[in-house]
Amino acid sequence: MADTVFSGRFYYHGKFEDLAVGVTDGVITEIGKDTKGDVKIVLPHAVLPAGTDIHVHFRDPGETQKEDFRSGSTSALFGGTTTVIDMPNNIPPVTDYERFENKLDSVTSRAYCDFGLYSLFNGSNQDVLDKRSFGLKIYLGGSTNALPVGELNEHARVFLKEYGKPVIFHAEDGKCLDRHSMVETSCRDHNLSRPVECERTAVSDAVSFGVKRGIIAHLSAPMEVEAGYDVEVTPHHLLLNDSKVENSWGKVNPPLRDSRSQEELLGNYIAGKYRILSSDHAPHTEEDKSGFAHAASGIIGVETRVPLFLALVRRKIVGLDTLLSSSSTFPNALFGIRKGLIEKGYSADFMCVDFSNEIRINQDRLHSRTPVTPFHGFGAVFPSHVVIGGNIAIDGYELIEERFGKFINAGD
Ligand code: DOR
Ligand code: ZN
Repeated sequence: MADTVFSGRFYYHGKFEDLAVGVTDGVITEIGKDTKGDVKIVLPHAVLPAGTDIHVHFRDPGETQKEDFRSGSTSALFGGTTTVIDMPNNIPPVTDYERFENKLDSVTSRAYCDFGLYSLFNGSNQDVLDKRSFGLKIYLGGSTNALPVGELNEHARVFLKEYGKPVIFHAEDGKCLDRHSMVETSCRDHNLSRPVECERTAVSDAVSFGVKRGIIAHLSAPMEVEAGYDVEVTPHHLLLNDSKVENSWGKVNPPLRDSRSQEELLGNYIAGKYRILSSDHAPHTEEDKSGFAHAASGIIGVETRVPLFLALVRRKIVGLDTLLSSSSTFPNALFGIRKGLIEKGYSADFMCVDFSNEIRINQDRLHSRTPVTPFHGFGAVFPSHVVIGGNIAIDGYELIEERFGKFINAGD
């Protein structure tokens, strides 16, 4: 007999079926029509695996005026995401085990969703990296709080080749960026000052490192990427372009591209060419974003990533399997997290979705510390209920105040 039985219309093996899913200690133990359990919970709409976002910047510790783990992780839950992996470009950057420990200490008591952490590779810190990290982030060119690696020496190259966990590349080539630098007043200028050419150069550089498990972060335009590397795309590069957004809230690295590139990128995503959909949630304050030329780069997205695409599923523009695979099943599998499928042995992380309830995103109702978003007014389908490890965290579109988030240790 299970602890809890969730009954509802589950998306199971590629179709919707009325099921009773038994959960014990947060893990799915039984799937059937008539599963018995101590507690019974009815989920009223379509039940899907919850999302996992492998690319967020929650700014905690160091810049909690922009976001902290509480605001970031509750935003994630409202958007149907129960697991995030947080980037290491904090102040100070997470480059060694002391800083990793310090960050873990700071964020654990504020985590409402499950989380893992990355470390930043700066070209020479291979001996002091924390083993609990989910992988490494490398900046090949400058960006917010980045420590771009520049020319890597032989020692660093050998280390990267042998490193067994994922290595996530921010692919914009530093020298190329320097050559194109200019005073910018619009998203169009930002695109010109960090052109696709710089991204293409960095992608081939990243591929030349020959790491075992490479991921090209936030591909912003269609380009060839060596088959051995996985490609991540974001909602902003798929749905926005440099003429659709005028102000600095659309300033992001790599930049929004022109509409032709954007449409082609979206077409490729719809065709299943990119296997990871992440938000690259990168919050900044109103002050950081004032005056285009000096505005910080980054767009929030952890709360809107899945809802935007559920609306596209509803409109039959994106396939449900494509969305679930790229926003949950595949990234979970890639990082060895037992989530993202409704199967025995997987964590009971679900979102319950009323597809008939498409609304317009209202930035005043998002939960980030500065919720301004270029997606304001876009159609979205938010989950009515979110279950994390067998616990209801969002109930009828409202947050349950109890905190269920746990650290996922990626150590061996
Ligand atoms: O636009 C960006 N913002 N790109 C990055 O690489 C970093 C991010 C941030 O942390 O703000
Ligand atoms: Zn990022």
